[in-house]
Amino acid sequence: MIEIKNVKKSFSKLEVLKDVSVRVEDGQVVVILGSSGSGKTTLLRCINFLENADSGEMTLGDIHLNLKKATKREILQIRRKTAFVFQNYNLFANKTAIENVMEGLVTARKLPKEQAREKAREALDWVGLSDKYDQYPSQLSGGQQQRVGIARAFVLHPEVILFDEPTSALDPELVGETLELIKRVAQKGITMIVVTHEMSFAQDVADKVVFMDEGLVVEEGTPKQIFSEPKEERTRQFLSRIISLDANYSI
Ligand SMILES: Nc1ncnc2c1ncn2[C@@H]1O[C@H](COP(=O)(O)OP(=O)(O)OP(=O)(O)O)[C@@H](O)[C@H]1O
Ligand SMILES: [Mg+2]
Repeated sequence: MIEIKNVKKSFSKLEVLKDVSVRVEDGQVVVILGSSGSGKTTLLRCINFLENADSGEMTLGDIHLNLKKATKREILQIRRKTAFVFQNYNLFANKTAIENVMEGLVTARKLPKEQAREKAREALDWVGLSDKYDQYPSQLSGGQQQRVGIARAFVLHPEVILFDEPTSALDPELVGETLELIKRVAQKGITMIVVTHEMSFAQDVADKVVFMDEGLVVEEGTPKQIFSEPKEERTRQFLSRIISLDANYSI
Protein backbone atom coordinates (compact mmCIF):
# COMPACT_ATOMS: atom_id res chain seq x y z
CA MET A 1 0.00 0.00 0.00
CA ILE A 2 1.16 3.53 -0.71
CA GLU A 3 -0.46 6.37 1.13
CA ILE A 4 0.34 10.04 1.10
CA LYS A 5 -1.28 12.29 3.62
CA ASN A 6 -1.75 16.03 3.90
CA VAL A 7 0.86 16.94 1.31
CA LYS A 8 1.49 20.65 0.89
CA LYS A 9 3.81 22.33 -1.57
CA SER A 10 4.27 25.94 -2.59
CA PHE A 11 6.57 27.53 -5.13
CA SER A 12 7.28 30.88 -3.46
CA LYS A 13 3.81 32.40 -3.07
CA LEU A 14 2.00 29.91 -5.29
CA GLU A 15 0.31 27.20 -3.24
CA VAL A 16 0.32 24.26 -5.64
CA LEU A 17 -0.67 21.43 -3.29
CA LYS A 18 -2.92 22.65 -0.52
CA ASP A 19 -3.54 19.45 1.44
CA VAL A 20 -3.58 16.33 -0.68
CA SER A 21 -4.11 12.79 0.55
CA VAL A 22 -4.25 9.70 -1.67
CA ARG A 23 -4.17 6.03 -0.80
CA VAL A 24 -3.49 3.19 -3.23
CA GLU A 25 -3.78 -0.46 -2.26
CA ASP A 26 -1.23 -2.99 -3.44
CA GLY A 27 -1.66 -3.89 -7.09
CA GLN A 28 -4.23 -1.19 -7.68
CA VAL A 29 -4.24 1.48 -10.37
CA VAL A 30 -5.23 5.01 -9.46
CA VAL A 31 -5.83 7.52 -12.22
CA ILE A 32 -5.42 11.19 -11.33
CA LEU A 33 -7.41 13.64 -13.41
CA GLY A 34 -7.37 17.40 -13.25
CA SER A 35 -6.99 20.47 -15.38
CA SER A 36 -3.66 21.98 -16.26
CA GLY A 37 -1.94 23.53 -13.28
CA SER A 38 -3.98 21.64 -10.68
CA GLY A 39 -0.81 20.14 -9.19
CA LYS A 40 -0.78 16.59 -10.61
CA THR A 41 2.85 16.53 -11.73
CA THR A 42 3.97 18.23 -8.54
CA LEU A 43 2.20 15.56 -6.50
CA LEU A 44 3.96 12.72 -8.36
CA ARG A 45 7.29 14.53 -8.05
CA CYS A 46 6.82 14.93 -4.30
CA ILE A 47 6.11 11.20 -3.95
CA ASN A 48 9.39 10.35 -5.67
CA PHE A 49 11.36 13.20 -4.01
CA LEU A 50 12.04 14.87 -7.32
CA GLU A 51 10.49 17.77 -5.43
CA ASN A 52 10.59 18.40 -1.69
CA ALA A 53 7.14 18.80 -0.16
CA ASP A 54 6.69 21.47 2.50
CA SER A 55 4.82 19.03 4.70
CA GLY A 56 3.04 15.71 4.55
CA GLU A 57 3.56 12.05 5.28
CA MET A 58 4.00 8.93 3.23
CA THR A 59 3.64 5.24 3.94
CA LEU A 60 4.99 2.72 1.44
CA GLY A 61 4.78 -0.85 2.68
CA ASP A 62 6.58 -0.83 6.01
CA ILE A 63 8.28 2.54 5.43
CA HIS A 64 6.64 5.51 7.06
CA LEU A 65 8.16 8.94 6.70
CA ASN A 66 7.70 12.65 6.87
CA LEU A 67 8.00 14.10 3.36
CA LYS A 68 9.73 17.24 4.54
CA LYS A 69 12.11 15.67 7.00
CA ALA A 70 12.96 12.44 5.20
CA THR A 71 16.57 11.38 5.61
CA LYS A 72 18.80 10.53 2.65
CA ARG A 73 18.48 6.88 3.57
CA GLU A 74 14.67 7.06 3.58
CA ILE A 75 14.67 8.85 0.22
CA LEU A 76 16.86 6.11 -1.23
CA GLN A 77 14.54 3.45 0.18
CA ILE A 78 11.55 5.09 -1.51
CA ARG A 79 13.43 5.55 -4.80
CA ARG A 80 14.30 1.85 -4.77
CA LYS A 81 10.63 0.95 -4.54
CA THR A 82 9.29 3.44 -7.06
CA ALA A 83 9.88 4.37 -10.69
CA PHE A 84 8.75 7.28 -12.81
CA VAL A 85 7.55 7.37 -16.41
CA PHE A 86 7.72 10.90 -17.79
CA GLN A 87 5.58 12.72 -20.30
CA ASN A 88 8.65 13.57 -22.38
CA TYR A 89 10.37 10.21 -21.82
CA ASN A 90 13.48 11.77 -20.19
CA LEU A 91 15.86 9.29 -21.79
CA PHE A 92 19.60 9.93 -21.84
CA ALA A 93 20.20 11.21 -25.37
CA ASN A 94 23.79 9.91 -25.40
CA LYS A 95 22.85 6.37 -24.38
CA THR A 96 21.29 3.65 -26.52
CA ALA A 97 17.93 2.07 -25.67
CA ILE A 98 19.58 -0.82 -23.85
CA GLU A 99 21.96 1.48 -21.96
CA ASN A 100 19.01 3.62 -20.86
CA VAL A 101 17.23 0.55 -19.49
CA MET A 102 20.40 -0.77 -17.82
CA GLU A 103 21.25 2.50 -16.12
CA GLY A 104 19.10 2.14 -13.00
CA LEU A 105 20.07 -1.50 -12.59
CA VAL A 106 23.76 -0.65 -12.61
CA THR A 107 23.77 2.61 -10.64
CA ALA A 108 20.91 2.15 -8.16
CA ARG A 109 20.74 -1.63 -7.93
CA LYS A 110 24.48 -2.23 -8.30
CA LEU A 111 23.98 -5.13 -10.68
CA PRO A 112 27.03 -6.28 -12.68
CA LYS A 113 26.87 -4.89 -16.21
CA GLU A 114 26.37 -8.19 -17.98
CA GLN A 115 23.47 -9.15 -15.72
CA ALA A 116 21.95 -5.69 -16.18
CA ARG A 117 22.31 -6.02 -19.95
CA GLU A 118 20.52 -9.37 -19.93
CA LYS A 119 17.61 -7.99 -17.87
CA ALA A 120 17.44 -4.88 -20.06
CA ARG A 121 17.25 -7.10 -23.15
CA GLU A 122 14.35 -9.04 -21.64
CA ALA A 123 12.55 -5.80 -20.73
CA LEU A 124 13.02 -4.37 -24.22
CA ASP A 125 11.74 -7.62 -25.72
CA TRP A 126 8.73 -7.41 -23.43
CA VAL A 127 7.85 -3.92 -24.69
CA GLY A 128 8.31 -5.01 -28.32
CA LEU A 129 11.68 -3.40 -29.04
CA SER A 130 13.90 -6.42 -29.61
CA ASP A 131 15.19 -4.87 -32.82
CA LYS A 132 16.08 -1.51 -31.25
CA TYR A 133 18.59 -2.30 -28.48
CA ASP A 134 21.35 -0.18 -29.95
CA GLN A 135 19.38 2.79 -31.25
CA TYR A 136 19.77 6.20 -29.63
CA PRO A 137 16.60 8.06 -28.55
CA SER A 138 16.88 10.42 -31.53
CA GLN A 139 16.64 7.35 -33.79
CA LEU A 140 13.40 6.18 -32.18
CA SER A 141 9.82 7.37 -32.64
CA GLY A 142 8.02 8.98 -29.71
CA GLY A 143 6.08 5.78 -29.08
CA GLN A 144 9.29 3.74 -29.13
CA GLN A 145 11.01 6.18 -26.76
CA GLN A 146 8.12 5.87 -24.35
CA ARG A 147 8.40 2.07 -24.59
CA VAL A 148 12.03 2.44 -23.52
CA GLY A 149 10.83 4.69 -20.68
CA ILE A 150 8.35 2.04 -19.59
CA ALA A 151 10.94 -0.76 -19.91
CA ARG A 152 13.36 1.30 -17.81
CA ALA A 153 10.73 1.60 -15.05
CA PHE A 154 9.51 -1.98 -15.33
CA VAL A 155 12.95 -3.60 -15.30
CA LEU A 156 13.47 -2.37 -11.73
CA HIS A 157 10.39 -4.33 -10.56
CA PRO A 158 9.34 -1.41 -8.40
CA GLU A 159 6.43 -1.64 -6.00
CA VAL A 160 4.93 1.49 -7.49
CA ILE A 161 5.22 3.13 -10.91
CA LEU A 162 4.27 6.79 -11.26
CA PHE A 163 3.16 7.74 -14.78
CA ASP A 164 2.90 11.42 -15.64
CA GLU A 165 0.76 11.82 -18.76
CA PRO A 166 2.69 9.05 -20.50
CA THR A 167 0.88 9.39 -23.82
CA SER A 168 0.22 13.11 -24.08
CA ALA A 169 3.33 13.86 -26.14
CA LEU A 170 2.56 11.09 -28.64
CA ASP A 171 0.97 11.27 -32.05
CA PRO A 172 -2.62 10.05 -31.83
CA GLU A 173 -1.91 6.81 -33.68
CA LEU A 174 0.71 5.82 -31.09
CA VAL A 175 -1.44 6.51 -28.04
CA GLY A 176 -3.48 3.29 -28.21
CA GLU A 177 -0.51 0.91 -28.38
CA THR A 178 1.27 2.71 -25.55
CA LEU A 179 -1.85 2.51 -23.38
CA GLU A 180 -2.07 -1.22 -24.19
CA LEU A 181 1.48 -1.62 -22.92
CA ILE A 182 0.65 0.29 -19.74
CA LYS A 183 -2.31 -2.06 -19.25
CA ARG A 184 0.09 -4.99 -19.48
CA VAL A 185 2.20 -3.41 -16.73
CA ALA A 186 -0.95 -3.12 -14.60
CA GLN A 187 -1.73 -6.79 -15.23
CA LYS A 188 1.64 -7.64 -13.67
CA GLY A 189 0.19 -6.46 -10.38
CA ILE A 190 2.39 -3.39 -10.00
CA THR A 191 0.76 -0.58 -8.06
CA MET A 192 0.36 2.40 -10.35
CA ILE A 193 -0.49 6.06 -10.05
CA VAL A 194 -1.28 7.40 -13.51
CA VAL A 195 -1.90 11.00 -14.44
CA THR A 196 -3.74 10.93 -17.75
CA HIS A 197 -6.60 12.46 -19.63
CA GLU A 198 -7.35 9.20 -21.43
CA MET A 199 -10.83 8.49 -20.17
CA SER A 200 -11.31 5.14 -21.84
CA PHE A 201 -8.04 3.94 -20.30
CA ALA A 202 -9.19 5.16 -16.88
CA GLN A 203 -12.51 3.42 -17.37
CA ASP A 204 -10.85 0.10 -18.31
CA VAL A 205 -7.92 0.02 -15.93
CA ALA A 206 -8.43 2.26 -12.91
CA ASP A 207 -9.55 0.87 -9.59
CA LYS A 208 -9.97 4.42 -8.42
CA VAL A 209 -10.14 7.84 -10.05
CA VAL A 210 -9.02 10.93 -8.17
CA PHE A 211 -10.06 14.34 -9.47
CA MET A 212 -7.84 17.24 -8.46
CA ASP A 213 -8.47 20.92 -8.84
CA GLU A 214 -6.41 23.87 -7.63
CA GLY A 215 -4.19 21.79 -5.39
CA LEU A 216 -6.94 19.79 -3.70
CA VAL A 217 -8.62 16.44 -4.21
CA VAL A 218 -12.15 17.43 -5.10
CA GLU A 219 -13.58 13.95 -5.45
CA GLU A 220 -12.55 10.32 -5.71
CA GLY A 221 -14.30 7.08 -6.48
CA THR A 222 -14.55 4.19 -8.91
CA PRO A 223 -14.46 5.14 -12.61
CA LYS A 224 -18.19 4.48 -12.73
CA GLN A 225 -18.89 6.80 -9.79
CA ILE A 226 -16.71 9.58 -11.15
CA PHE A 227 -17.70 9.35 -14.81
CA SER A 228 -21.39 8.49 -14.48
CA GLU A 229 -22.39 10.04 -11.18
CA PRO A 230 -19.94 12.79 -10.24
CA LYS A 231 -21.04 14.53 -7.08
CA GLU A 232 -19.17 17.78 -7.45
CA GLU A 233 -19.97 20.48 -9.95
CA ARG A 234 -16.25 21.05 -10.66
CA THR A 235 -15.83 17.38 -11.58
CA ARG A 236 -18.82 17.56 -13.90
CA GLN A 237 -17.49 20.61 -15.67
CA PHE A 238 -14.06 19.09 -16.10
CA LEU A 239 -15.46 15.83 -17.46
CA SER A 240 -17.73 17.50 -19.94
CA ARG A 241 -14.76 19.44 -21.32
CA ILE A 242 -12.52 16.39 -21.53
CA ILE A 243 -15.10 14.01 -22.94
CA SER A 244 -15.92 16.36 -25.76
CA LEU A 245 -12.21 16.29 -26.68
CA ASP A 246 -11.71 12.53 -26.32
CA ALA A 247 -12.92 10.94 -29.52
CA ASN A 248 -12.37 7.41 -28.19
CA TYR A 249 -14.58 7.84 -25.22
CA SER A 250 -18.28 7.26 -25.06
CA ILE A 251 -20.46 6.85 -21.99
N1 LIG B 1 9.49 24.25 -10.26
C1 LIG B 1 8.46 25.09 -10.25
N2 LIG B 1 8.64 26.40 -9.94
C2 LIG B 1 7.60 27.26 -9.91
N3 LIG B 1 6.32 26.93 -10.19
C3 LIG B 1 6.07 25.64 -10.52
C4 LIG B 1 7.12 24.67 -10.57
N4 LIG B 1 6.59 23.48 -10.92
C5 LIG B 1 5.27 23.71 -11.07
N5 LIG B 1 4.96 25.00 -10.83
C6 LIG B 1 3.61 25.58 -10.90
O1 LIG B 1 2.76 24.80 -10.12
C7 LIG B 1 1.47 24.69 -10.70
C8 LIG B 1 1.11 23.22 -10.83
O2 LIG B 1 1.98 22.62 -11.75
P1 LIG B 1 1.90 21.08 -12.12
O3 LIG B 1 2.96 20.86 -13.14
O4 LIG B 1 1.93 20.26 -10.90
O5 LIG B 1 0.45 21.01 -12.77
P2 LIG B 1 -0.25 19.82 -13.57
O6 LIG B 1 -1.55 19.55 -12.90
O7 LIG B 1 0.70 18.70 -13.73
O8 LIG B 1 -0.55 20.51 -14.98
P3 LIG B 1 -0.49 19.90 -16.50
O9 LIG B 1 -1.78 19.17 -16.70
O10 LIG B 1 -0.39 21.12 -17.36
O11 LIG B 1 0.73 19.02 -16.58
C9 LIG B 1 1.54 25.44 -12.01
O12 LIG B 1 0.97 26.71 -11.81
C10 LIG B 1 3.03 25.53 -12.29
O13 LIG B 1 3.33 26.70 -13.02
MG1 LIG C 1 1.64 17.83 -15.36
